Parts: sequence; C-alpha cells; structure tokens
Amino acid sequence: MKGVVLAGGLGTRLSPLTRVTNKHLLPVYNRPMIFYPIETLVNAEIRDILIVTGGQNAGDFLRLLSDGKDFGLHHLNYAYQEGEGGIADALRLAEHFTAGEKLCVILGDNIIQGNVLEAKRRFDAQEHGGHIILKQVPDPERFGCAEIVDGRIARIHEKPKRAKSNYAVTGIYFYDATIFERIGKLKPSARGELEITDINNMFLEEGTLTHSFLDGWWTDAGTFESLRRATNLVAETGANRLPAEPVAAAAAGSKQGKSGR
Ligand code: G1P
Repeated sequence: MKGVVLAGGLGTRLSPLTRVTNKHLLPVYNRPMIFYPIETLVNAEIRDILIVTGGQNAGDFLRLLSDGKDFGLHHLNYAYQEGEGGIADALRLAEHFTAGEKLCVILGDNIIQGNVLEAKRRFDAQEHGGHIILKQVPDPERFGCAEIVDGRIARIHEKPKRAKSNYAVTGIYFYDATIFERIGKLKPSARGELEITDINNMFLEEGTLTHSFLDGWWTDAGTFESLRRATNLVAETGANRLPAEPVAAAAAGSKQGKSGR
C-alpha cells in the first residue's frame, strides 16, 4: 500500500502565521506539523510515501524532509499542486505514483495519539472500496460528520449546520485505485473545492465503504484553537505513541466495541 500526505493549501485560517510559510511547516510542540502524519504512515508499515504540496514554500519541504531519514526511510516522493482545488484535487496528483495499488491518504494537519496499523491491515484484506476512520468529537460541525443509522453510516455530511452524530470523519482515508476516476466525476462544492466527502459518499452508495473507530486522541491543527490543542496534546502525551492492537486478537473479537464496521 502506498501513502500520500496532503500538505498543500493556503492555510488561511492560520493567517498571519501562514503568510510566509506553509501551514504544515509550522511547529507543533517540538517538531514541524508534517512530521506527525508521515510518522503515522510509517507506523502503519507504509514506507512508500508521496508528499503533495504547493505554493511558494514547496522547496522548504525538500530541505526539511530530504529523503525521509528522520523516519527511517531511504526515499520520499514529492508532487506539486498548482492552485488550491481542495483535498480531492490534490489527491489527483497521486495517480501516477500509486500505479494501481491501494493507498492511504492522510491530511498533513491530522495528528493522532495512536496507530492506524489495524485499520491498514483490515483494508489490505478488503477486496475493494474505501475505509474511513471515525472519532467522537465535541464539535462535529467542524468536520465531515457521519450520520449513523442502525450501526451503519447512512451518509457523510461535510461541515453540517446541525450534526446528526458526534462522529467526525478523520483525515485518514484508505482507497482502492478507482479513487482517481471518481475524482474526475466530482463537481466543486459551494466552497469551490473538490470534496473528499463526496468521494466517500460515492463508495458508501455502492456499499464498499467500511469504517473503524480511532483509539486515543485525534486532532487537526488548521485553526488557532486546534493548533494550540495539538501542541498541548503532543507536549503532554506524545503523538503516534499508543501501540497498535494485534490484528489476530481484533479479528477474534477480543476488542469488540472498540472498532467495527
Ligand atoms: C477536511 C475534510 C473533512 C474532515 C477534516 C479532517 O476538512 O473536508 O471532511 O473531517 O478535513 O481534518 P478541512 O480541513 O478542509 O476543513
């Protein structure tokens, strides 16, 4: 499975911090923001990684990350996004890189306490479709929000005015290679972006979107409040620190209620 970190965008919600640099290069406690999502992929045993970025600071990513030696990697791939077309538009640039393989996509401002190795292994075993990871939050209106009926996701609503559950869709997604033809079918949303939520709803309508729930804390870091929260959480407990659950035990049902479809 390939890994893609999306690290483009203008980061306007963090202006003026982002006036002369990219959001994902800002510090979160003692490391640049982008270190955390890369580490999340590596912890999930994904080592073939593409960084998608853009704007005026793209060169800084190469200077900072070079060949990924901070993460025990020997090589990193980079792609440059022209313009600001949203998450799904940035993902388009990963088509050549993924070359028909499944992929795990992580938003460059998503930081977790734990590990997504179990979800990755489950998706390895899933024939096709997509897999998303949900987390209960106090402010679901800020995110893609899963409407759950009888234990199943009925629909995902992007930043709903009134949320139908408190389950946010985290920015860690697993897809098969059909993602790219699906992106071609998307129309820009009201905010002028190609929305990843529309892709997830496509898989959902076909019955091929599975989900699991994340253990440990999760936060984005794209607003002043969430950046402060991320910094505090990392300083207090560390990111990517919870050990992964053994997959055999999860399959045998010993962790029932913690993750499921
Ligand atoms: C994006 C997605 C949203 C998701 C969130 C996770 O929101 O559109 O569905 O829940 O990332 O961080 P954005 O960062 O564009 O506000």
